[in-house]
Amino acid sequence: AVLILLGPPGAGKGTQARMLEETFGLVQLSTGDLLRAAVAAGTDAGKAAKAVMEAGELVSDDIVIAILRDRLAEPDCAKGVILDGFPRTTVQAEALDALLAENGQSINAAISLEVDDAAMVTRISGRFTCGTCGEGYHDTFKAPAVAGTCDKCGGTDMKRRADDNAETVSSRLVAYHAQTAPLIAYYKKKGVLKSIDAMGEIDAIAGELAAVVKRAT
Ligand code: AP5
Ligand code: ZN
Repeated sequence: AVLILLGPPGAGKGTQARMLEETFGLVQLSTGDLLRAAVAAGTDAGKAAKAVMEAGELVSDDIVIAILRDRLAEPDCAKGVILDGFPRTTVQAEALDALLAENGQSINAAISLEVDDAAMVTRISGRFTCGTCGEGYHDTFKAPAVAGTCDKCGGTDMKRRADDNAETVSSRLVAYHAQTAPLIAYYKKKGVLKSIDAMGEIDAIAGELAAVVKRAT
């Protein structure tokens, strides 16, 4: 199965993708995570992407498509994938169609998480992540049971992202509306678009999303 999660920064794509991964045995492919790993590793792609990401703009299509293509070719992806944060431009969407066609695959559903811009700033500015296992948290909406300690793995190395500040969040929202929002119409035209109200509680959204995924796969 191939599922796409569409939505602005902070909509909950990563949070929901991790839950779907566990429920359905799919692999989460986050181009944001892949790019942050490339930055940390200091690869050529990472060097080119770093400043662009810190400014809240989109990394060039060539770089992102190459990273996604390599990851998609790894054997674990045969289980099925949830694309989180990709595609983000029409060029990327067309490249994805071509890649999948080569492998005889197609998109089961592109699921749009619908949220208000105002809520996104609050969600993103309270976000932190376990540096050991990658579990995502929020100061208000998803705090760990013991402050500073991961519920999942017990790790205590909590991290905040360099681009999670109010200023960069506005640039990311601008980039979303200009370059990514048109993909909603793109997937509607293909007949694979599903929309979910993502303003509610994390678990309620997860339930709705699971039902959509079950019907689409
Ligand atoms: P990326 O890493 O993809 O970031 P993003 O799209 O900005 O999305 P986020 O990770 O911020 O949000 P999310 O929707 O996953 O929300 P989350 O679940 O964490 O991209 C970063 C950068 O990399 C881009 O700016 C760009 O430069 C580059 N990039 C990446 N992909 C690219 C591509 N394809 N092309 C070009 N450039 C690319 O939730 C947010 C917070 O809210 C968390 O704290 C969570 O606990 C909380 N939360 C989640 N759901 C709820 C809820 N229902 N109620 C309350 N709180 C909630
Ligand atoms: Zn952890």
